[in-house]
Amino acid sequence: MQSLLVIRSSLLLGSGQSNQLIDRYVANWRTANPNGQVVERDLARQPIAHLDMARVAAFSTPADQRSAEQQALVAESDALIAELKAADDIVIGLPLYNFGVPSTLKAWIDQVARAGVSFRYTAQGPEGLIKGKRVYVITTRGGHYRDQPHDTQTPYVRNVLGFLGMTDLQFVHAEGLALGDDARRDSLQAAEAQIDALFDEVAA
Ligand SMILES: Cc1cc2nc3c(=O)[nH]c(=O)nc-3n(C[C@H](O)[C@H](O)[C@H](O)COP(=O)(O)O)c2cc1C
Repeated sequence: MQSLLVIRSSLLLGSGQSNQLIDRYVANWRTANPNGQVVERDLARQPIAHLDMARVAAFSTPADQRSAEQQALVAESDALIAELKAADDIVIGLPLYNFGVPSTLKAWIDQVARAGVSFRYTAQGPEGLIKGKRVYVITTRGGHYRDQPHDTQTPYVRNVLGFLGMTDLQFVHAEGLALGDDARRDSLQAAEAQIDALFDEVAA
């Protein structure tokens, strides 16, 4: 059975443009995978704890020496990594807030990037352990950043997910959403068409 992990991070919840574009992606995905399983992870509704000293110490303590408190901290991270490993497809909503990724999404990244669990160091260099995923990233932005040096998000997400082994990434950009009604409508329509086309390619 195919499975899809949905990662949302819009602080605007149901009104968030990334969430609405994700909804379109999920509807398409369900049509293409009628028996598939969809797992939802909404980081705005259920924020992930920030990385702190206790967590880093728990991660680096050998499993058989962890205290009960450390086991609980590691279990939260383990569950998030297990969710990623179980997915065939992953769709990530990526709003632009104050020139960066949502802090909730950064907290999630900090919980799933774990040496020995989601990546490891080898004599040949680091190796990502979350492999074989198709990842779709839907960005939503007030201005225009695509392919420009001040796009802080695309290179960062490509780097960190690639480091963890997720190298099959496609981006859908909805930009200029704060630049007036016409710009917003045109951008959203183009993004919707791009999302639909992802599934035309699969069906073809
Ligand atoms: C707190 C906040 C900060 C924002 N910062 C930026 C920004 O730095 N650059 C930009 O182009 N748009 C910025 N925007 C506009 C958002 O990128 C735009 O509203 C987008 O639709 C957000 O995605 P969402 O609707 O899925 O939440 C910001 C919006 C909010 C609410």
